[in-house]
Amino acid sequence: MILVTGGAGYIGSHTVVELAKKGHNIIVIDNLSNSSKKSISNIQRIIGKKVLFFPYDVRNRRDLMRVFNSYDIEGVLHFAGSKAVGESVQKPIEYYLNNISGTLTLLDVMKYHQCKKIIFSSSATVYGNPKELPIKENASLSVINPYGRSKLIIEDILKDLYQSDNSWGIGILRYFNPVGSHHSGLIGEQPNGMPTNLMPIVSMVAAGKIERLKIFGGDYETDDGTGIRDYIHVEDLAKGHVKAFDILKNGFKLEIINLGTGKGYSVLELVREYEKVSKCKINFDITERREGDVACCFADVSYAKKVLNWSAQYNLEYMCESSWKWQKSISNPLDK
Ligand code: NAD
Ligand code: WQD
Repeated sequence: MILVTGGAGYIGSHTVVELAKKGHNIIVIDNLSNSSKKSISNIQRIIGKKVLFFPYDVRNRRDLMRVFNSYDIEGVLHFAGSKAVGESVQKPIEYYLNNISGTLTLLDVMKYHQCKKIIFSSSATVYGNPKELPIKENASLSVINPYGRSKLIIEDILKDLYQSDNSWGIGILRYFNPVGSHHSGLIGEQPNGMPTNLMPIVSMVAAGKIERLKIFGGDYETDDGTGIRDYIHVEDLAKGHVKAFDILKNGFKLEIINLGTGKGYSVLELVREYEKVSKCKINFDITERREGDVACCFADVSYAKKVLNWSAQYNLEYMCESSWKWQKSISNPLDK
């Protein structure tokens, strides 16, 4: 069985679906701090079978032990954690406790049970302001907020662990900007409270749930002055995880892999595409830059292609289409 922590969340739920499609048996644990049980029932609707679900917290050693004692777990996909950059600046202790302590407790229990395969959700945020584009995995790393620092610290912990015992198999996947939702329209991104990422905000403006989009900065050194990012469809991302887990099973050691499309789009390009797809006007104002934002960020995806034999398939149009389909199916950001 594969244990998926944070499997009720945005990326975890899509990955559970892809794993199930490939015939894996899955256990999900999720404390539902940023998701709801409804996503588990919708996963089950999509895959047509039950998923074992426990509403546990990865920081609770006793609960983790109970799961590992009861099931034969061959490996873990570890998504559970807190992810809002701005919030992490306000609540550093909570972020370090959840992300770092949670991961340490999980690793300790895995070690106790001799379960030594883990895929960890890292982030392109660890590259900070990139010196070269596209960004390769061996680029220099720098972080400027507690969220990013928690990811970098966990990456280092995983490297130390591998150094101490190379019978571990560790996949560190650095996601670029995950967007979109499942083609069924049944699962998607639905955080507690207001989103802070671009695509969910754009979709809410299109739906009339937010009046105007604030575009953070129109004076970057990019063609249209707005920031450029590597948006990747969440189903592509989920498929990348399945490939990574397969390789891990067949004996890869410690791998750090970018998951992106390799293509960058500006905020304005995304807005225009969303308008085309939704046939709705997206009103916006160009405002000050947001602190901590970089002008341009996109992945070198050649290593993922080589190691995983994986590359992203979906284009920006489909990313917007699937996001729009999801947006129309949910009534407001707090409706779970
Ligand atoms: P998400 O918030 O939708 O999913 C995380 C899930 O983990 C949620 O369902 C939440 O309830 C659960 N969770 C949080 N703390 C937990 C705990 N202590 N015990 C058990 N469950 C817990 O976020 P997501 O977008 O699916 O992100 C998944 C992972 O990918 C996170 O680690 C995130 O940092 C990382 N990541 C996300 C992005 C992104 O833009 N979405 C980009 C790069 C990396
Ligand atoms: C994208 C672009 C903004 C909102 C963040 C995290 C990163 C990763 C993905 C977790 C930028 C612009 C945004 C808005 C805007 N998450 N924007 N108005 O900042 O690239 O990455 O999410 O690991 O760690 O930092 O994503 O979606 O917030 O921004 O103009 O209201 O949209 O300036 O150019 P970001 P984003």
